[in-house]
Amino acid sequence: MSIRIAPSILSANFANLSEDIRKVEDAGAHLLHVDVMDGHFVPNITIGPPVVKSLNKATKLPLDVHLMISDPDQYIAAFVDAGASILTVHAEATVHLDRTLNLIRSMNVLAGVSINPATPLSVVEHVLGLADLLLIMSVNPGFGGQKFIGYALDKIRQARQMIDNRNLRCVIEVDGGIDLETLPGVVRAGAQVVVAGSAIFGDPDPARKIKEMLDIAAPLSYHSNFV
Ligand code: DX5
Ligand code: ZN
Repeated sequence: MSIRIAPSILSANFANLSEDIRKVEDAGAHLLHVDVMDGHFVPNITIGPPVVKSLNKATKLPLDVHLMISDPDQYIAAFVDAGASILTVHAEATVHLDRTLNLIRSMNVLAGVSINPATPLSVVEHVLGLADLLLIMSVNPGFGGQKFIGYALDKIRQARQMIDNRNLRCVIEVDGGIDLETLPGVVRAGAQVVVAGSAIFGDPDPARKIKEMLDIAAPLSYHSNFV
């Protein structure tokens, strides 16, 4: 199974989301990455459950909801009701990460955990068995269009080893600064799902960009049976 591409709508045209979504859906994107920001955990504000609910009606793609919000527990039910397929919380944003991941799992959606560039992998070591997805940030979350942080590659490799050694089902997703140049390294390091915002929606032809990304990544891909 080849690499999964998750276009981030953060860089799409918010006044014409359904058209942008159709383009990436037709081009073979596997997931739609939805960035939820609260102006507290990250210095930016985006969207909440009502918009996710509308997105769910506008696409057949599974919604990969990346919660960059403090105290995520209180909003998890709302995002599940809105139609999220994957709910990812930040390890730094919740005090009781084990409880948060169990709460997501209890609602029958896939549970993801994310770590910022400065957060060591050891923070999630003991809860990786509870996670369907590990989201490794390769930029400081908050904005699209930032430069890829190179040392994230070491963390992807470490995570790949940890997951394989323990035979866990958790897939590795990487988010931030991924374009045609940084993509090969990310895939070789062991990522199975890549998020790309500005590289896809900043291109005059998002569909062509997705196809280029798939062509580059396919021969380098780690196997995965994820969604
Ligand atoms: C950053 C978001 C990313 C963002 C990625 O906080 O989590 O999903 O949209 O955008 P690019 O691909 O432009 O770095
Ligand atoms: Zn994201």
